[in-house]
Amino acid sequence: MTEEKIRNVLSGINEPVLNLDFVKLGFVKEISLNGKNLKLTLGISDRNEEITAELIKKIKEEFHRSIPEINNVEVNFVTGVTEQINEKKSSVLPGVKNTIAVASGKGGVGKSTVAVNLAVALAKAGARVGLIDADIYGPSIPLMFGVKEKPKVMQVGDKNKLVPIEKFGVKIMSIGFLMEESTAVVWRGPMASSALKQFMSDVVWGELDYLLFDMPPGTGDIQLTLSQTIPLTGAVIVTTPQEISLADARKGYIMFQKVNVPTIGIVENMSYYLNQDGSREYIFGKDGGKKMCEEFKVKLLGEIPINTTIRKGGDDGRPIVTGEVVPEEAEIFIHIAGELIKEINLMNVNASDSSDIVIEI
Ligand SMILES: Nc1ncnc2c1ncn2[C@@H]1O[C@H](COP(=O)(O)OP(=O)(O)OP(=O)(O)O)[C@@H](O)[C@H]1O
Ligand SMILES: [Mg+2]
Repeated sequence: MTEEKIRNVLSGINEPVLNLDFVKLGFVKEISLNGKNLKLTLGISDRNEEITAELIKKIKEEFHRSIPEINNVEVNFVTGVTEQINEKKSSVLPGVKNTIAVASGKGGVGKSTVAVNLAVALAKAGARVGLIDADIYGPSIPLMFGVKEKPKVMQVGDKNKLVPIEKFGVKIMSIGFLMEESTAVVWRGPMASSALKQFMSDVVWGELDYLLFDMPPGTGDIQLTLSQTIPLTGAVIVTTPQEISLADARKGYIMFQKVNVPTIGIVENMSYYLNQDGSREYIFGKDGGKKMCEEFKVKLLGEIPINTTIRKGGDDGRPIVTGEVVPEEAEIFIHIAGELIKEINLMNVNASDSSDIVIEI
């Protein structure tokens, strides 16, 4: 029995979210045949148990029908990551499959909190993840990751490059690693933009599935620099439910639209406070994020409550999604990471000509 025969069967089975077959998507990660026992590892966009259980059933049926000599099929799933297809995909970050700006119009709505927890959650899902602190004037990443060390310098060709710090499975880079803690950055705009560009070109990122950017608030220089330096896969916009934040989030959405960056989805942060009796208190109003999603026809990736655990995780340098056992509110970030993987895969597949798509992890 040949591997080709096995691949042929898999090319007749579609990945449930993307509706393209596993072979075409490059989602066949491992085929191992031991006598009459077949073990498969497949990439998948949504590891929801209901979806995987049904798929396993279907795969077993297909193999039983097509190659009856195989007695037993064991299927394992890993996160399937597709690559952004873009002819303008720059040489700046050649090993990076997808780049995502975590942005908002307004300050203090939780961009950094969301970026940090999403990055760790994506890494926990098995993806290779990097995070750039694009908030040059007010970097939060060193504190939120609890990192004080300075990055090492490495010679690559005739250039000195910085090696990102690795923590909780994420490669991170921040101007905060390079300055003294008490020093304020007092650069002019072009210098900040140039620092951000260097974080892309002069850091040894290697191969990454997702590179996230924790953006500063507003719609200024840094946002423009980023969208002009690389063709971003998309933006995740963070907002609180209240009108003052939504008004700025809308501006953020429109700015990204103007520079051809699609908004992948919206995260509503500080959505509610969970009282001890289980009831929800909508401190900043209700459903603002949902309404914005309806207005712009984008996906609401999730609603995050306001609570002490999340705030403390940020201040203590231990994002709440780290560790084996995660608190209940961390599940929401993990869910958002799952939604993000799915949405990006859908975007990438829809953007490519599906007849000749070949996406390798
Ligand atoms: N869901 C939440 N529950 C409790 N505290 C939160 C939550 N989200 C964010 N915070 C806290 O609110 C503060 C601001 O959050 P954060 O720094 O993530 O916002 P930001 O949008 O990145 O701000 P900036 O615009 O200054 O970059 C932080 O102290 C953070 O710990
Ligand atoms: Mg921030």
